[in-house]
Amino acid sequence: MSRPPQRGRFVTFEGIDGAGKSTHIAPIADHLRARGLTVVVTREPGGTELADGLRHWLLTHEMSPRTEALLAFGARSDHVERVIRPALAAGYWVLCDRFTDSTFAYQGSGRELGDEAIATLAHWTLDGFGPDRTYWFALDPAVAASRRQAARASDRFEREREAFFQRVDRCYAALAAAEPQRIRRIDAGLAPERIAAILCADLDDWCARLVPEPGSGTPDWTDERD
Ligand code: TYD
Repeated sequence: MSRPPQRGRFVTFEGIDGAGKSTHIAPIADHLRARGLTVVVTREPGGTELADGLRHWLLTHEMSPRTEALLAFGARSDHVERVIRPALAAGYWVLCDRFTDSTFAYQGSGRELGDEAIATLAHWTLDGFGPDRTYWFALDPAVAASRRQAARASDRFEREREAFFQRVDRCYAALAAAEPQRIRRIDAGLAPERIAAILCADLDDWCARLVPEPGSGTPDWTDERD
């Protein structure tokens, strides 16, 4: 009798605008697929029709910080219910460009709503659900600003002042310090090939520590030793 698939793994990518995280996600997905895993790539805000609609408003429309936070969690709720949880339950790996850490960093710290407000919304919306592993692309806010200037289009977050991004960056550093097992700091100032190698090596190491199902012969990960 075949057993139901084990839960997949949820991996997120975080960092200030200009840190360059997004370009690494597709190659990482290919790397994991080459190991025989089924991988879903998605992003926030977005990932469903409703959440993509909310993304449009968040990135283009002036609104209060509270409204921003509520829309971010509204989009996340739909995304988690319709895409992320079903994919994990099917045994797929989910790679998501940004998740709740972004709301702590951008609305909690950047917009100064405070950690407590975001934690309350996160608890109410997600009830403890979150990533198994997060890669934080850490980059000096001044360097990120010059990278953003070199890019053509910009949304209302990318046009924020450097002080905003300094607060965002400090929040990521605090989150990483609080959860070192989950959040891995990636030096986003390194060459892209070097970053790709670090990410693949870390994921390979992690996969190797997930114990395969006895006798399954397939990479159907069931448990972790750490
Ligand atoms: P991102 O996908 O990184 O932008 P782009 O496609 O332009 O590279 O993220 C969109 C923006 O949304 C980014 O500036 C951060 C912001 N954001 C929040 O402010 N709060 C959130 O909860 C999330 C998920 C994103």
